[in-house]
Amino acid sequence: MNRDFSEALDAAITRIPAIRATAKSLQRALNTVFLEGPLRPLKNLANGTWLEHPLHPLLTDVPVGAWTVTLLLYIAGLFFGMDGLGLAIGLAMGLGILAALAAIATGFMDWMDVDPTELAVGLVHAIMNITGTLFFMLAWLMLYLAQWQVSVANFIPALIGYLVMSVGAYLGGGLVFRLGVMVNRNAYRSGPKDFTPVVGFTELPENKPQRFDVKGQPILLVRRGQRVYAIGAVCSHYGAPLQQGTLRDTIIECPWHYSHFSLEDGSVKAGPATAPAPLYETDVKDGKIWVKVERVAQLVAPH
Ligand code: FES
Repeated sequence: MNRDFSEALDAAITRIPAIRATAKSLQRALNTVFLEGPLRPLKNLANGTWLEHPLHPLLTDVPVGAWTVTLLLYIAGLFFGMDGLGLAIGLAMGLGILAALAAIATGFMDWMDVDPTELAVGLVHAIMNITGTLFFMLAWLMLYLAQWQVSVANFIPALIGYLVMSVGAYLGGGLVFRLGVMVNRNAYRSGPKDFTPVVGFTELPENKPQRFDVKGQPILLVRRGQRVYAIGAVCSHYGAPLQQGTLRDTIIECPWHYSHFSLEDGSVKAGPATAPAPLYETDVKDGKIWVKVERVAQLVAPH
């Protein structure tokens, strides 16, 4: 069977034992440092939990854009004879470097939770982008030392940095769009639009999260006293079964990477998840628990 280029590249990277081993050790070390203890809020910040959107892809757009401008200005200065562009190039390049450093930090915070299949590719993606950033730092330093005089000498490292960064960006795109890293696992949920019976009220034990498939939708039901909560049963981060998570009051903790979801409204109280869980309205009628969708993928279901 033919593989597309992306798949073949990922497979080639993953076959290298040294990369696999390094990735595993580094992932373990990051988990030790950031998962428990005082640094956890930093990880939530870097994951973008507070923004309800992964932060890393937002930041990566900045160096790609800034360094594209850098290259275009270099071309204008070196090949079309435009003068006085050195400072503008320095500013564009500097902005790209600052954003790249933030993107690298946030990328590692997302990467520390990826599955083993994506680990090696993610590490090479990071290495390429770190290398690209180092080349741009060198170019910036050379430009600064040349008192913002544009030259082929300070253009070459910028050009190499751009090419290396492009390969890194290509791998990063594959991680998201092909392998689904940090993609909301509940993006395509819908319904049930009308109240649908699920289970007898007394058949649902108290404080014991249970999953039910209702009209094709995986729904987590939790009964606490007379109140029944219903949110999506699949973790939005990587698809873990939330019924296997830990219940603490009205918070369910994901069993895989420990995101916290509120049973009240499906919101994420701790990352790495960024997308809220689908939320369902509940009712008790004729001794049965009924549910209907209230919000999926941030949209209020039309009534
Ligand atoms: S699957 Fe990663 S936090 Fe739930």
